[in-house]
Amino acid sequence: MSEYLLEFQDVYYSYPMATTPTLQGLSLRLPKQQKTALIGQNGCGKSTMLAIADGLAQPDRGKVILDNIPLAFNRAALRRWRQRVGLVFQDPEQQLVAPTVAADISYGLCNQGLPTAEVAAKVMKTLTDFNLEALAMSPLQHLSLGQKKRVSIAGVMALHPELLLLDEPTAYLDSVQTRNLLVELEAIAQRGTTLLIATHDLDFVYQWADWILVMEQGRLITEGETLAVFDRLQFMPEFELGMPLLWQMWSPLAAKMPKVPAPRSIDEFNSYLQSILSNISLTPEV
Ligand SMILES: Nc1ncnc2c1ncn2[C@@H]1O[C@H](COP(=O)(O)OP(=O)(O)OP(=O)(O)O)[C@@H](O)[C@H]1O
Ligand SMILES: [Mg+2]
Repeated sequence: MSEYLLEFQDVYYSYPMATTPTLQGLSLRLPKQQKTALIGQNGCGKSTMLAIADGLAQPDRGKVILDNIPLAFNRAALRRWRQRVGLVFQDPEQQLVAPTVAADISYGLCNQGLPTAEVAAKVMKTLTDFNLEALAMSPLQHLSLGQKKRVSIAGVMALHPELLLLDEPTAYLDSVQTRNLLVELEAIAQRGTTLLIATHDLDFVYQWADWILVMEQGRLITEGETLAVFDRLQFMPEFELGMPLLWQMWSPLAAKMPKVPAPRSIDEFNSYLQSILSNISLTPEV
Protein backbone atom coordinates (compact mmCIF):
# COMPACT_ATOMS: atom_id res chain seq x y z
CA MET A 1 0.00 0.00 0.00
CA SER A 2 1.37 3.42 -0.98
CA GLU A 3 2.03 6.03 1.68
CA TYR A 4 0.63 8.60 -0.75
CA LEU A 5 -3.09 8.91 -1.49
CA LEU A 6 -3.10 11.28 -4.46
CA GLU A 7 -0.46 11.78 -7.09
CA PHE A 8 -0.11 14.20 -10.03
CA GLN A 9 2.40 13.11 -12.67
CA ASP A 10 3.56 15.80 -15.08
CA VAL A 11 0.10 17.36 -15.41
CA TYR A 12 -0.56 20.09 -18.01
CA TYR A 13 -3.81 22.03 -18.19
CA SER A 14 -4.89 25.04 -20.27
CA TYR A 15 -8.20 26.86 -19.95
CA PRO A 16 -10.04 27.28 -23.24
CA MET A 17 -8.78 30.38 -25.11
CA ALA A 18 -5.80 30.80 -22.72
CA THR A 19 -2.47 31.61 -24.38
CA THR A 20 -0.30 29.75 -21.84
CA PRO A 21 -1.04 26.58 -19.85
CA THR A 22 -2.09 27.14 -16.22
CA LEU A 23 -0.53 23.86 -15.06
CA GLN A 24 2.84 23.29 -16.65
CA GLY A 25 4.15 19.87 -15.70
CA LEU A 26 2.74 19.71 -12.17
CA SER A 27 4.00 16.68 -10.26
CA LEU A 28 3.17 16.16 -6.59
CA ARG A 29 2.23 13.55 -4.00
CA LEU A 30 -0.14 13.85 -1.10
CA PRO A 31 0.75 11.81 2.00
CA LYS A 32 -2.07 9.60 3.30
CA GLN A 33 -3.88 10.64 6.48
CA GLN A 34 -1.88 13.84 6.81
CA LYS A 35 -2.78 17.51 6.86
CA THR A 36 -1.26 19.09 3.75
CA ALA A 37 -1.27 22.77 2.76
CA LEU A 38 -0.98 23.96 -0.84
CA ILE A 39 0.53 27.43 -1.00
CA GLY A 40 1.64 29.81 -3.74
CA GLN A 41 0.92 33.24 -5.13
CA ASN A 42 -2.37 34.38 -6.68
CA GLY A 43 -2.85 32.74 -10.03
CA CYS A 44 -0.18 30.03 -9.60
CA GLY A 45 -2.81 27.34 -10.20
CA LYS A 46 -3.93 26.13 -6.74
CA SER A 47 -7.67 26.18 -7.48
CA THR A 48 -7.03 24.61 -10.88
CA MET A 49 -5.06 21.81 -9.22
CA LEU A 50 -7.96 21.17 -6.81
CA ALA A 51 -10.53 21.16 -9.63
CA ILE A 52 -8.48 18.54 -11.47
CA ALA A 53 -7.99 16.52 -8.28
CA ASP A 54 -11.81 16.41 -7.96
CA GLY A 55 -12.24 15.33 -11.58
CA LEU A 56 -13.92 18.61 -12.58
CA ALA A 57 -11.38 19.36 -15.30
CA GLN A 58 -9.47 16.98 -17.53
CA PRO A 59 -5.71 17.43 -17.86
CA ASP A 60 -4.34 17.98 -21.38
CA ARG A 61 -1.41 15.74 -20.49
CA GLY A 62 -0.15 13.76 -17.51
CA LYS A 63 -1.76 11.49 -14.94
CA VAL A 64 -3.77 11.95 -11.75
CA ILE A 65 -3.77 8.87 -9.52
CA LEU A 66 -5.75 8.07 -6.37
CA ASP A 67 -4.42 5.06 -4.48
CA ASN A 68 -3.01 3.47 -7.66
CA ILE A 69 -6.21 4.19 -9.65
CA PRO A 70 -5.71 6.67 -12.53
CA LEU A 71 -8.46 9.27 -12.96
CA ALA A 72 -10.65 8.35 -15.94
CA PHE A 73 -13.21 10.65 -17.50
CA ASN A 74 -16.28 8.45 -17.82
CA ARG A 75 -19.42 8.80 -15.71
CA ALA A 76 -19.01 5.66 -13.64
CA ALA A 77 -15.34 6.30 -12.83
CA LEU A 78 -15.98 9.95 -11.98
CA ARG A 79 -18.86 8.98 -9.70
CA ARG A 80 -16.64 6.51 -7.82
CA TRP A 81 -13.84 9.10 -7.66
CA ARG A 82 -16.12 11.77 -6.19
CA GLN A 83 -17.40 9.36 -3.55
CA ARG A 84 -13.82 9.27 -2.26
CA VAL A 85 -12.81 12.87 -2.91
CA GLY A 86 -14.70 15.98 -1.77
CA LEU A 87 -13.96 19.57 -2.81
CA VAL A 88 -15.01 22.75 -1.03
CA PHE A 89 -14.82 25.57 -3.59
CA GLN A 90 -13.09 28.88 -2.97
CA ASP A 91 -16.31 30.69 -3.89
CA PRO A 92 -19.34 29.26 -2.03
CA GLU A 93 -21.68 30.71 -4.68
CA GLN A 94 -20.31 28.07 -7.08
CA GLN A 95 -20.96 25.24 -4.65
CA LEU A 96 -24.46 25.75 -3.31
CA VAL A 97 -27.29 24.26 -5.35
CA ALA A 98 -30.44 23.83 -3.27
CA PRO A 99 -33.02 26.42 -2.08
CA THR A 100 -32.35 26.10 1.67
CA VAL A 101 -29.46 25.26 3.99
CA ALA A 102 -30.87 21.88 5.07
CA ALA A 103 -31.74 20.97 1.48
CA ASP A 104 -28.24 21.84 0.35
CA ILE A 105 -26.59 19.68 2.99
CA SER A 106 -28.91 16.78 2.12
CA TYR A 107 -28.21 17.11 -1.62
CA GLY A 108 -24.92 15.16 -1.71
CA LEU A 109 -26.20 12.60 0.79
CA CYS A 110 -29.29 11.93 -1.38
CA ASN A 111 -27.00 11.57 -4.42
CA GLN A 112 -25.15 8.83 -2.56
CA GLY A 113 -28.44 6.90 -2.53
CA LEU A 114 -28.68 6.69 1.27
CA PRO A 115 -32.04 5.82 2.91
CA THR A 116 -34.15 8.88 3.82
CA ALA A 117 -33.89 8.31 7.59
CA GLU A 118 -30.09 8.14 7.37
CA VAL A 119 -29.96 11.31 5.27
CA ALA A 120 -32.15 13.12 7.82
CA ALA A 121 -29.98 11.98 10.75
CA LYS A 122 -26.77 13.05 8.98
CA VAL A 123 -28.25 16.44 8.04
CA MET A 124 -29.26 17.04 11.67
CA LYS A 125 -25.81 16.09 12.93
CA THR A 126 -24.09 18.30 10.37
CA LEU A 127 -26.35 21.27 11.18
CA THR A 128 -25.42 20.84 14.86
CA ASP A 129 -21.68 20.33 14.20
CA PHE A 130 -21.55 23.52 12.13
CA ASN A 131 -23.82 25.54 14.36
CA LEU A 132 -26.31 25.97 11.52
CA GLU A 133 -29.53 24.78 13.20
CA ALA A 134 -31.02 28.28 13.35
CA LEU A 135 -30.42 28.71 9.61
CA ALA A 136 -31.64 25.25 8.56
CA MET A 137 -34.70 26.48 6.65
CA SER A 138 -33.21 29.79 5.50
CA PRO A 139 -33.06 30.43 1.76
CA LEU A 140 -29.42 30.40 0.69
CA GLN A 141 -29.71 33.79 -1.03
CA HIS A 142 -30.48 35.38 2.36
CA LEU A 143 -27.20 34.24 3.93
CA SER A 144 -24.02 36.26 4.33
CA LEU A 145 -20.95 35.14 2.39
CA GLY A 146 -19.38 33.69 5.57
CA GLN A 147 -22.57 31.75 6.33
CA LYS A 148 -22.65 30.43 2.75
CA LYS A 149 -19.04 29.33 3.11
CA ARG A 150 -19.92 27.41 6.28
CA VAL A 151 -22.84 25.72 4.54
CA SER A 152 -20.65 24.73 1.60
CA ILE A 153 -18.02 23.24 3.93
CA ALA A 154 -20.70 21.45 5.98
CA GLY A 155 -22.28 19.94 2.85
CA VAL A 156 -19.01 18.37 1.72
CA MET A 157 -17.91 17.27 5.18
CA ALA A 158 -21.27 15.52 5.70
CA LEU A 159 -20.23 13.08 2.96
CA HIS A 160 -17.13 11.96 4.90
CA PRO A 161 -14.80 11.76 1.91
CA GLU A 162 -11.50 9.91 2.24
CA LEU A 163 -9.72 12.92 0.73
CA LEU A 164 -11.06 16.35 1.55
CA LEU A 165 -9.88 19.28 -0.57
CA LEU A 166 -10.62 22.77 0.74
CA ASP A 167 -9.95 25.93 -1.23
CA GLU A 168 -9.31 28.91 1.08
CA PRO A 169 -11.67 27.49 3.74
CA THR A 170 -11.19 30.36 6.19
CA ALA A 171 -11.92 33.08 3.61
CA TYR A 172 -14.99 35.07 4.73
CA LEU A 173 -15.11 33.36 8.16
CA ASP A 174 -14.81 35.43 11.33
CA SER A 175 -12.45 34.34 14.11
CA VAL A 176 -15.13 32.37 15.97
CA GLN A 177 -16.11 30.41 12.88
CA THR A 178 -12.46 29.92 11.92
CA ARG A 179 -11.78 28.35 15.33
CA ASN A 180 -14.88 26.15 15.01
CA LEU A 181 -13.76 25.05 11.56
CA LEU A 182 -10.32 24.12 12.86
CA VAL A 183 -11.87 21.99 15.60
CA GLU A 184 -14.01 20.22 12.98
CA LEU A 185 -11.02 19.72 10.67
CA GLU A 186 -8.99 18.29 13.54
CA ALA A 187 -11.80 15.85 14.34
CA ILE A 188 -11.99 14.61 10.77
CA ALA A 189 -8.19 14.39 10.50
CA GLN A 190 -8.28 12.21 13.63
CA ARG A 191 -10.76 9.92 11.86
CA GLY A 192 -8.10 9.27 9.20
CA THR A 193 -9.29 11.65 6.47
CA THR A 194 -6.51 13.02 4.27
CA LEU A 195 -6.78 16.81 4.07
CA LEU A 196 -5.48 19.27 1.51
CA ILE A 197 -6.04 23.00 2.04
CA ALA A 198 -5.11 25.65 -0.51
CA THR A 199 -4.46 28.94 1.23
CA HIS A 200 -2.42 32.14 1.42
CA ASP A 201 -2.57 32.19 5.20
CA LEU A 202 0.97 31.18 6.10
CA ASP A 203 0.43 31.67 9.86
CA PHE A 204 -2.37 29.14 9.68
CA VAL A 205 -0.25 26.79 7.54
CA TYR A 206 2.69 26.93 9.95
CA GLN A 207 0.50 25.90 12.87
CA TRP A 208 -1.75 23.43 11.10
CA ALA A 209 0.05 21.54 8.34
CA ASP A 210 2.12 18.35 8.55
CA TRP A 211 3.21 18.65 4.93
CA ILE A 212 3.44 21.55 2.46
CA LEU A 213 3.30 21.77 -1.33
CA VAL A 214 4.53 25.04 -2.84
CA MET A 215 3.42 26.02 -6.35
CA GLU A 216 4.76 28.68 -8.65
CA GLN A 217 3.44 29.31 -12.17
CA GLY A 218 1.76 25.95 -12.56
CA ARG A 219 4.57 23.82 -11.16
CA LEU A 220 5.70 22.52 -7.80
CA ILE A 221 8.79 24.33 -6.55
CA THR A 222 9.23 22.46 -3.30
CA GLU A 223 7.44 20.07 -0.93
CA GLY A 224 8.06 18.42 2.41
CA GLU A 225 7.49 18.62 6.15
CA THR A 226 6.33 22.02 7.32
CA LEU A 227 9.44 23.20 9.17
CA ALA A 228 11.82 21.90 6.52
CA VAL A 229 9.86 23.67 3.78
CA PHE A 230 9.89 27.06 5.52
CA ASP A 231 13.61 26.67 6.27
CA ARG A 232 14.13 26.08 2.53
CA LEU A 233 11.76 28.84 1.36
CA GLN A 234 13.74 31.55 3.14
CA PHE A 235 16.51 30.96 0.58
CA MET A 236 14.20 30.86 -2.46
CA PRO A 237 13.81 34.39 -3.87
CA GLU A 238 11.04 33.28 -6.21
CA PHE A 239 8.84 32.69 -3.15
CA GLU A 240 7.47 36.14 -2.41
CA LEU A 241 4.74 35.47 0.15
CA GLY A 242 6.95 36.17 3.19
CA MET A 243 7.30 33.90 6.20
CA PRO A 244 4.93 32.98 9.06
CA LEU A 245 5.12 35.25 12.10
CA LEU A 246 5.98 32.43 14.52
CA TRP A 247 8.77 31.23 12.21
CA GLN A 248 10.16 34.79 12.07
CA MET A 249 10.09 35.11 15.86
CA TRP A 250 11.61 31.71 16.48
CA SER A 251 14.32 31.43 13.82
CA PRO A 252 16.78 33.91 15.47
CA LEU A 253 16.39 31.95 18.74
CA ALA A 254 16.58 28.53 17.12
CA ALA A 255 20.33 28.71 16.53
CA LYS A 256 20.87 29.31 20.24
CA MET A 257 18.66 26.36 21.21
CA PRO A 258 19.36 23.70 18.59
CA LYS A 259 17.91 20.85 20.68
CA VAL A 260 14.56 22.54 21.32
CA PRO A 261 11.80 21.69 18.79
CA ALA A 262 10.37 24.77 17.05
CA PRO A 263 7.14 25.98 18.70
CA ARG A 264 4.15 25.56 16.40
CA SER A 265 1.68 27.71 18.32
CA ILE A 266 1.65 30.95 20.31
CA ASP A 267 1.10 28.90 23.49
CA GLU A 268 4.19 26.77 22.82
CA PHE A 269 6.21 29.88 22.01
CA ASN A 270 5.08 31.58 25.22
CA SER A 271 5.92 28.59 27.38
CA TYR A 272 9.48 28.56 25.91
CA LEU A 273 9.81 32.26 26.65
CA GLN A 274 8.57 31.71 30.21
CA SER A 275 11.12 28.97 30.81
CA ILE A 276 13.94 31.08 29.31
CA LEU A 277 12.96 34.14 31.35
CA SER A 278 12.69 32.13 34.55
CA ASN A 279 16.43 31.42 34.22
CA ILE A 280 17.31 35.08 33.71
CA SER A 281 17.41 37.57 36.51
CA LEU A 282 15.33 40.58 35.47
CA THR A 283 16.38 42.67 38.47
CA PRO A 284 18.08 45.84 37.17
CA GLU A 285 21.79 46.01 37.92
CA VAL A 286 22.86 48.64 40.44
N1 LIG B 1 -12.11 29.74 -15.95
C1 LIG B 1 -10.93 30.26 -16.33
N2 LIG B 1 -10.69 30.61 -17.61
C2 LIG B 1 -9.50 31.10 -18.00
N3 LIG B 1 -8.44 31.22 -17.18
C3 LIG B 1 -8.60 30.87 -15.90
C4 LIG B 1 -9.85 30.37 -15.40
N4 LIG B 1 -9.72 30.10 -14.07
C5 LIG B 1 -8.44 30.41 -13.77
N5 LIG B 1 -7.77 30.86 -14.86
C6 LIG B 1 -6.37 31.30 -14.90
O1 LIG B 1 -5.55 30.23 -14.45
C7 LIG B 1 -4.51 30.73 -13.61
C8 LIG B 1 -4.54 30.01 -12.28
O2 LIG B 1 -5.74 30.30 -11.64
P1 LIG B 1 -6.13 29.61 -10.26
O3 LIG B 1 -7.47 30.13 -9.91
O4 LIG B 1 -5.94 28.14 -10.36
O5 LIG B 1 -4.99 30.22 -9.30
P2 LIG B 1 -4.90 30.22 -7.71
O6 LIG B 1 -3.51 29.81 -7.37
O7 LIG B 1 -6.01 29.43 -7.13
O8 LIG B 1 -5.06 31.77 -7.36
P3 LIG B 1 -5.70 32.48 -6.06
O9 LIG B 1 -4.63 32.45 -5.04
O10 LIG B 1 -5.99 33.86 -6.54
O11 LIG B 1 -6.93 31.74 -5.65
C9 LIG B 1 -4.72 32.25 -13.50
O12 LIG B 1 -3.85 32.87 -14.40
C10 LIG B 1 -6.16 32.43 -13.94
O13 LIG B 1 -6.35 33.66 -14.57
MG1 LIG C 1 -7.61 29.93 -5.93
